[in-house]
Amino acid sequence: MTRARINPLKKPLRADHERVPGDKSISHRALMLAALAEGESRIGGLAPGDDVRSTTRVLAQLGVPLLRGDGTPWLPKPRSMDFPEDEEPTFVSPERPDGAAPLPQRDVDMGIDDAIVIGRGLSGLLEPTGLLDCGNSGTTLRLMSGILAGAGIEAMLSGDDSLSKRPMERIAAPLRALGAKVETSSGKPPLRVRRGFPIKPGAVSSEVASAQVKSSVLLAGLFADGETSFTEPARSRDHTERMLRQMGVEVVQRGNIVAVRGRAKLSPLSLDVPGDLSSAAFLIAAALIGPPKTSLSIDHVGVNPTRTGFLDALAMFGAKLSLELSGAGAEPVARLTVQAQKLKGAMLDGELVLRAIDEVPILAVLGALAEGETVIRGAGELRVKESDRLAQMATGLRAMGAWVEELPDGLRIEGRGGKLEGGAAVDSAHDHRIALAFTVASLAAHKPTTVAGVEWADVSFPGFFRLLRRLGAEIEIFP
Ligand code: S3P
Repeated sequence: MTRARINPLKKPLRADHERVPGDKSISHRALMLAALAEGESRIGGLAPGDDVRSTTRVLAQLGVPLLRGDGTPWLPKPRSMDFPEDEEPTFVSPERPDGAAPLPQRDVDMGIDDAIVIGRGLSGLLEPTGLLDCGNSGTTLRLMSGILAGAGIEAMLSGDDSLSKRPMERIAAPLRALGAKVETSSGKPPLRVRRGFPIKPGAVSSEVASAQVKSSVLLAGLFADGETSFTEPARSRDHTERMLRQMGVEVVQRGNIVAVRGRAKLSPLSLDVPGDLSSAAFLIAAALIGPPKTSLSIDHVGVNPTRTGFLDALAMFGAKLSLELSGAGAEPVARLTVQAQKLKGAMLDGELVLRAIDEVPILAVLGALAEGETVIRGAGELRVKESDRLAQMATGLRAMGAWVEELPDGLRIEGRGGKLEGGAAVDSAHDHRIALAFTVASLAAHKPTTVAGVEWADVSFPGFFRLLRRLGAEIEIFP
């Protein structure tokens, strides 16, 4: 376990034209859909974290010829520059199935976050020889289950301790309703998909608004002979739908119902993945609560409206942020600029919270530093993320001197209108977004704070501590 001792920021942060890692949600989908396309896809700016590496590894185990600029999916992940004292990673190479096509040739122009994927079409995936280890990544496990059910491939999908506790019936039940045979272990991973149960077109609905559930169903529906529809109570992120359309698949949206027409040929992708707003949110928050004269701009950030609840929440905190749209791809992209400023408490609820579901931990930090009360409701899903994020944020922020009440589906926070006390030891609970949120909170405290388990930041934001140091933060990392 790696700990970081984070000193309060003394000098203003100043950075222009920063970049954040590629969007994790879009990266997973780009790799998976490229694997199902016919022809060669090129994807640039992939998310460099552990989660997307889990997707490349699983696709490789299904015989997909895929090359990432930072090495083949069989190499151990590159050592994080944030945590050089980590032990040398041990790595057991997963086998490629018999008959897998040769890997693509490395291109001299290929950057470390680029990938070349040779699509296998809808019927070209091979049965894996071993377990498909999805690591910490719920998106890998849930979306790949839809693909495997659709392709009728026998496979067992598992994950790390955190993923092994997360609910899987939410995808298994709709996939079964479409004809697949999917077994869970008392509702949790490992999850087994059986061969020989083809997906039939149909209409399924979900009680929870979840892009992972929706995408799992739509991806299975790609293999069905007809239309498959999914209804959700509110509209979750729509990256899958946008990418499918871009690849030539018919996707129809009517309110909260989305339908896909199966058996279409997917054309290959040429894609530059936008920066991840969910990662940018930590830097934006650090700037907002930074010392006076702090100013930060981040280029090329994805601002898909189904994901921008964080930006709307900032407006409710009274924050001013400038957004200049750029680019004209399937996903809107912008340059974001922000300065340090005073925040006032806000009421965050409903569809805004759904559109900011991964940003609730950092919104809670902003609430603790704002003037007055902040209430976050409608965030019950946070209890089944990589950790129980409501409980972890309440415990850690209290330890840092904030007043926080835990609600069944949210948090009530009495903001201090200034710095937190700090001087505490808090824990990431093996959760990347908790590690990142407490790190940012520590920058705006009176006394240094220690965050344990900061190596989990690598799941979505490798290089975060290096970046903060470059911007002037004093952070010591030790085992
Ligand atoms: C994701 C959807 C969300 C989000 C997760 C990524 C996706 O999960 O929290 O980080 O890429 O589809 P749910 O679908 O469980 O809400």
